[in-house]
Amino acid sequence: MTRILLISGSVSDPSINTETLTQFAALAEEAGYEAGFLRTRLIDMPFYSLQGEGQGGHPTVDSFRQEVSAADAVVFATPQHNGRFPAVLQNALDWSTRLEHRSLWAGKRVGVISVSPGPRKAALANETLRASLAGPFKADVVEPHVEIGKFEELQAAGGVFADPQLRADALAMLEALTR
Ligand SMILES: Cc1cc2nc3c(=O)[nH]c(=O)nc-3n(C[C@H](O)[C@H](O)[C@H](O)COP(=O)(O)O)c2cc1C
Repeated sequence: MTRILLISGSVSDPSINTETLTQFAALAEEAGYEAGFLRTRLIDMPFYSLQGEGQGGHPTVDSFRQEVSAADAVVFATPQHNGRFPAVLQNALDWSTRLEHRSLWAGKRVGVISVSPGPRKAALANETLRASLAGPFKADVVEPHVEIGKFEELQAAGGVFADPQLRADALAMLEALTR
């Protein structure tokens, strides 16, 4: 069975992105897929430095790399911070920059969800994360990507994926990730 790794780009608690991924995991399970959260805490990863890399990394960097490597596919949910995806995700990706670690992402199927409390759906975060993953990291970024706005309204109406269009998009993403 395809193992889907879920990575929230938010280290806030509570987080509408982490909550959306929890609901995505339930939908995935209902549809017969296996999805589980990244256990490494992005906030525990040190800021990238060449010296840190030279010293052999860090336990959280190693565990992040191992978890990504073991996954068949990865789904991110990202908030938007000042027009792009958050620094904590950038930092995690920076630890995959060196040539010997880029293969972590090369060809790996990746889906991107973005969630915002407002109407703009964190579309810029979604776009910049997809561009980063597909560009330098050569990941296989699948479509459809999923953009979610007005989170509280969706929650009040029964949850994010009670919305028929979002449910259809999420299921199409799951199918594309596991095809
Ligand atoms: C540093 C920072 C920058 C933000 N920049 C944006 C932004 O550019 N666009 C936007 O729609 N919301 C922005 N927000 C609001 C976030 O969308 C909101 O805090 C959201 O709840 C974050 O998702 P989370 O709950 O999963 O952390 C920003 C929030 C923070 C803390």
